[in-house]
This record gives sequence, structure tokens and C-alpha cells, in this order.
Amino acid sequence: MPQIPEKIHELTVGQLAARSGAAVSALHFYESKGLIGSRRTSGNQRRYSRDTLRRVAFIRAAQRVGIPLATIREALAELPEERTPTREDWAHLSEVWRTELEERINQLNRLRDHLADCIGCGCLSLESCVLSNPDDVFGERLTGSRLMVDRGGRG
Ligand code: FES
Repeated sequence: MPQIPEKIHELTVGQLAARSGAAVSALHFYESKGLIGSRRTSGNQRRYSRDTLRRVAFIRAAQRVGIPLATIREALAELPEERTPTREDWAHLSEVWRTELEERINQLNRLRDHLADCIGCGCLSLESCVLSNPDDVFGERLTGSRLMVDRGGRG
């Protein structure tokens, strides 16, 4: 990884890519989504402030644990004056995101367990296959108090 001399305060997109490990196309994408910003030189070339490196590291770390870009953008936008995340910001947000990650893992575990029932079955029944009818829409529409409410609304 190439070192950037301390006296250099702005980076070209190539330098930022080389130093951060992100592809140039990814950096352009982050910029198009408002996650990082640059200024343009008189020759219309992008220049990134040095602290964009930390911002990119933050974005990539969050992406690795599956945090959607929109959520990352919201988190960055909530920082005072949209500053680059500090060590404390990352510590706090990673704690919040760990909870979300655990919930997603639990959700995937439940899906895996349901999928195990489908293996070798193939019925895709709305009555008995949880993956085919995850919200039990069929059951809700045709039974119990929900039916009574529907009838009441029409009559
Ligand atoms: S396909 Fe039969 S239970 Fe899912």
C-alpha cells in the first residue's frame, strides 16, 4: 500500500483507491450516493481531502457486516457538520449495528430451519409451507376474527 506524505492534504481518486483498497468505481459510486465528497480542480479532476480515507474505511467496514449504504449515509449525515467518524463514533455505531446484525442472523437461522422442511418436499402449499406463505395470508383471510371484520366492513 503506497504511503502518502504528511504534507499532501488532498488525494487524487487513484491515490485514494490505492490507499483505501477501494476500487475507483466504488469511490465514484460512494460519491454519487453522497457518502464522500470531493472538489474539482480547474482541470475538472476530483480531489479528496485526506480525511476521506477514514470515511472510506468506515464505509467499507460497515458494508462488510452488511449495513446498507442508505443506513451508512444516514449515520454519516447525523454526525455534527457531517464530520469524518471518530473512533468513538465507530465504537458507538458498531454497537448499534451489532444488534441489527444479530437480528438478521436470527432471521436467517429461522429461514434455514424452514427451508430444511422444504428440502425434498416441493409442495409450496399455502397451507403448510411457511416459505411459500410466510405471513400466513391464506389463513388470515379465511379464518377467525379477520373474516368477521371483513364481513362487518361490507355489510
Ligand atoms: S415446499 Fe413443502 S413445506 Fe415448503
